[in-house]
Amino acid sequence: MADAELSLLYHGLLLPKATHSQESLDYMQKLTFKDDDVVGVTYPKSGTTWIQEILPPLLHGGDLTEVKTIPNWDRVPWMEETRAPLVMDKIPSPRAMVSHMPYQLMPPSFFTSKAKVIYVARNPKDVLVSSFHFHKMASFLDEPGTFEEFTDKFLAGKVLFGKWTDHVKSWRNADLGERILHVTYEEMILDLRGVLKRMLNFLGRQLTTEALDSVVNHCSFKNMKTNNMSNYSLVPEEIMDFKKSSFLRKGISGDWKNHFSPELDEKFTATIQEELKDSNIKFLWDD
Ligand code: A3P
Repeated sequence: MADAELSLLYHGLLLPKATHSQESLDYMQKLTFKDDDVVGVTYPKSGTTWIQEILPPLLHGGDLTEVKTIPNWDRVPWMEETRAPLVMDKIPSPRAMVSHMPYQLMPPSFFTSKAKVIYVARNPKDVLVSSFHFHKMASFLDEPGTFEEFTDKFLAGKVLFGKWTDHVKSWRNADLGERILHVTYEEMILDLRGVLKRMLNFLGRQLTTEALDSVVNHCSFKNMKTNNMSNYSLVPEEIMDFKKSSFLRKGISGDWKNHFSPELDEKFTATIQEELKDSNIKFLWDD
């Protein structure tokens, strides 16, 4: 199917119709944030599912019951998606939610609340690769074409939630003071325990060493891959075809090296660097 049939336009951003509607976007706009709400914000394919696994135990004393019994989309809902109006009022406070929205499209009450944000950024080359495979396996997304064609769409921002650089810049420039914590997917791969400690500190929470160990262990790629509440195996095959790709696919950094030719890498790097040149954004993956 063509993009137009599968997506809707929201303030110039393409959003998938399968999970977004005018009603859900209206609901998001009218959402009343509580001061103890926590929003995990990501550009798609940057670790959203990981955050949906991490936040409930961090906020609720290390308790893993929620992550073992409730599907990720109902446990830590996307505030802009169609499930939000059904589940948002049922989740225990402090509430955890996720969003792919750029900063400027956050709902009005977010700006007047003290709700906190954890923004996870991922190397855009690995985001692109992850997204390419996701487009192949998800029937509600358009066919990605060749990797080179999909790269051109990604660089032009003609993909879901627009340009990666616009998203990252919007949140890096966010005027939120102590209300925002920036982490990267790569840091989480290298030292999940260290990042979880930073998150706990940011959230003003504490866990015993044993509880933290058990959250770290539970949130490993290997364990999440076998958690049916998080690995998307509850989704019917006609919607997500696991024969084409898993949702929790490789869970590594650097898979882009298996997909990019030297020429494509040069073009991609030059475009991203140019778009970030006026920002002070430096990422670990700049090598
Ligand atoms: P890959 O396709 O590169 O494997 P999102 O949840 O934002 O859609 O992002 C999905 C990406 O995050 C997938 O990347 C997925 O494997 C990865 N991911 C999810 N949980 C992870 C974990 N515990 N460890 C490492 N990567 C994880």
